Amino acid sequence: MFLREGLAEVWVPGEEIKLGPGTKRAGFYNRDQVTNRDVTMAVLQILKPRLYLDGFGGTGIRGIRVAREVGTHPVISEINKSSFDLINENVKKNEVDIEVYNESFESIASKYMFDFIDVDPYGSVVPFLDVALSHVRNGGYLGITATDLSALTGSAPMKTRRRYNAFIVNDRLRHESGIRLLMSYVAGRAAALDRYIIPILSFWKSHYYRIIVRVKNGTGEADKMLENIGHTNKYSELSPIYRDMPEGPMWKSVLNSVEVVQAIAARSFEYLDNNSVELMNRLGDEDKMFLFYELTDFASHFKRNLPKLEELMSEMSAETGEKVFRTHFSPTAVKAPVDSTKFQEIFLAISKK
Ligand SMILES: C[S@@+](CC[C@H](N)C(=O)[O-])C[C@H]1O[C@@H](n2cnc3c(N)ncnc32)[C@H](O)[C@@H]1O
Repeated sequence: MFLREGLAEVWVPGEEIKLGPGTKRAGFYNRDQVTNRDVTMAVLQILKPRLYLDGFGGTGIRGIRVAREVGTHPVISEINKSSFDLINENVKKNEVDIEVYNESFESIASKYMFDFIDVDPYGSVVPFLDVALSHVRNGGYLGITATDLSALTGSAPMKTRRRYNAFIVNDRLRHESGIRLLMSYVAGRAAALDRYIIPILSFWKSHYYRIIVRVKNGTGEADKMLENIGHTNKYSELSPIYRDMPEGPMWKSVLNSVEVVQAIAARSFEYLDNNSVELMNRLGDEDKMFLFYELTDFASHFKRNLPKLEELMSEMSAETGEKVFRTHFSPTAVKAPVDSTKFQEIFLAISKK
């Protein structure tokens, strides 16, 4: 079937995949990744890199969209021969100028220095990170899609330990913890290569995380960056309702660039999916607080009914004079720049026994 996405139209053999991590068949197209690609196009329109590598082509949709929507020169690599043939068909159909290689990501990435490298494999990005970090130009960017959420969220603790040398509590805050673990891992690998990263945009959607980071050279800056990585203890850092135990490592600094978030908010992206635009416009709020206050945790701890989110938010703003924010990591949580004693006091005043 033919599918239209953004300003591209691609042929996808068989059924499209709507949700969940993909199967390994040729021309794999995942509808759930539209947000991933939409956000990537919006960011690329702002960053304007010159040479872009779509290292894991699939149907070619990502690279084709880059050519049509950004005007940047893409290179696509795809290891599977039938997917490679399909990509060539799709490139022809979209009348775009793209170099397509039937080679591994590792091989193509090592041939040039790219301004933006997109790493979008099945599952973990760990096996590809060092190659990607080494072959992005100084000041260039990496886009990373991770679908190994069972490892990153701590739901498979041995895998979390084996793959990331980490411990994450698999609770209601797990997706922010998981993204922060991924960011800390990427930062650690960059530092090992005498490079450092600056987060540009980070988000979670159903079965994947997407982070975009800037990569620069510098040992001094890399050392300074490592100060942003540490363990956290929700009991002492968030609220005594949590267990007293360290988890991490996690990236403890910002997950998004203020400049890029503002540049996105200032533009209109008429042809992008509304959900993608809405998500992008909310990401700046994620850095108003490290982790968040999850109302369902407070409700179950104090045996209270869950208060209405809007009511709690306006009461909290009125009481503290601080703006309170929602988070895309949970529909029943807030990010509020107030300490946990104050948060608890307001929560208990507003929630019913
Ligand atoms: C998750 S899909 C990519 C989806 C695509 N980027 C998109 O946005 O629709 C992963 C693709 O990478 C290919 N692949 C897996 N390992 C690879 C490698 N080492 N080098 C190049 N391609 C690879 C697979 O054949 C598959 O088509």
